Amino acid sequence: MFNWAKQQLANVAGTQEPIYGPSAIKSVAEEAQTKPYTEITRDDLKWQAMESTCVETESFYLFADSGHIALAQVIYSNVAGIRTTCQFNSKVFSKDPSKPHLWCSTPLNNVEFSEDKTSFYADDCAVELSEDGNSYTIKSMNDERSIVNVKITKAAPGFKAGETGTTKFGTDLENPWGVMRHAFWPRCTVEGTITTPDGPIDFKGRALYSYAIQGMKPHHAAARWNFADFQGPNYSAILMEFTTPPSYGTTKVIVGGIVKDGEIVAAGCDMEALHTTVNNDAENEWPEPSHVKFVWSNKDKGGKPVEAVIEGSLGDRVDRVDVMAEVPGFVKKIVAGAAGTKPYIYQYSPKVTLKLKIGDEEISEEGQMFTEATFISEA
Ligand SMILES: *[C@@H]1O[C@H](CO)[C@@H](O)[C@H](O)[C@H]1NC(C)=O
Repeated sequence: MFNWAKQQLANVAGTQEPIYGPSAIKSVAEEAQTKPYTEITRDDLKWQAMESTCVETESFYLFADSGHIALAQVIYSNVAGIRTTCQFNSKVFSKDPSKPHLWCSTPLNNVEFSEDKTSFYADDCAVELSEDGNSYTIKSMNDERSIVNVKITKAAPGFKAGETGTTKFGTDLENPWGVMRHAFWPRCTVEGTITTPDGPIDFKGRALYSYAIQGMKPHHAAARWNFADFQGPNYSAILMEFTTPPSYGTTKVIVGGIVKDGEIVAAGCDMEALHTTVNNDAENEWPEPSHVKFVWSNKDKGGKPVEAVIEGSLGDRVDRVDVMAEVPGFVKKIVAGAAGTKPYIYQYSPKVTLKLKIGDEEISEEGQMFTEATFISEA
């Protein structure tokens, strides 16, 4: 193999891990049995900027009242202390299926953090947490096709699952060699614009903010992901699930919650994300879902059962992202053959109904969902 190809292989896929089995993972769901969730504070939103292999992402999903959907994201990644890279990504989904989405991904230079590590700065990019800890401003001019200038304000408390929000990986779980942690602001308001070649898009509407820390190689931690974000007039419902590769027992870890303005109704790890109907994608053989069922079953603060369901057709997918598209084709084949890594993200944005039951009270509301099914390797 050419050396550069070997390097590509190592960068993208690394090596496969041995089978450690389910005893080498401690899911955050174990903590959630005694404490389903913890409201997050400013401390939970600090960039870790670890020395070891780590990928941190701050992701903002924007849902404009006008129907526009966009993602703005900062990724900070450190591969085994060798190379730190930062990237600003923005994706403005096209409302017209015949037109391409606007995807911009720019490496960032001169990265700095605020003294308390809650704000991120780089050339032509700033993602700042406000003094009171209730809002972020996101400003990016690093791609002239997508000039981001938005403010995201928390409309309900943020949470992490269990006590720490953290799932641990390793054969000695007191000293884990890897971690995965998520913290959310599940319901936010957004104001501001993303200026595209077609002019400014007003993003006044709702948003979700997710801060993820993957303290290990991403494809070692997860073979599959499901993500769902429902934003309705009175309620938001979110969930994030990953399934580990067989090296950690094909273990599923799911976190999520139901919130309304000013209040977490219920959150924790008692959810389910089911692909009820799938179609094999002829190009890569992944079982692309066409219908899903997402179920939340928790208790509210008063101990009343909270059950929520979203189910039905996903409609036409809005996109299929071939994560390794930039890697040369034959390297991709080697990676797929050697490590079984073939990451694709399927994205959908159907209008759906959230059916919610809080004790005896039944609520049904229509809203906008954004959902992703990600396949990385055989689970
Ligand atoms: C949202 O809540 C308000 C106040 O309780 C209610 O009047 C309204 O019908 C709700 N909206 C929906 C879509 O259920």
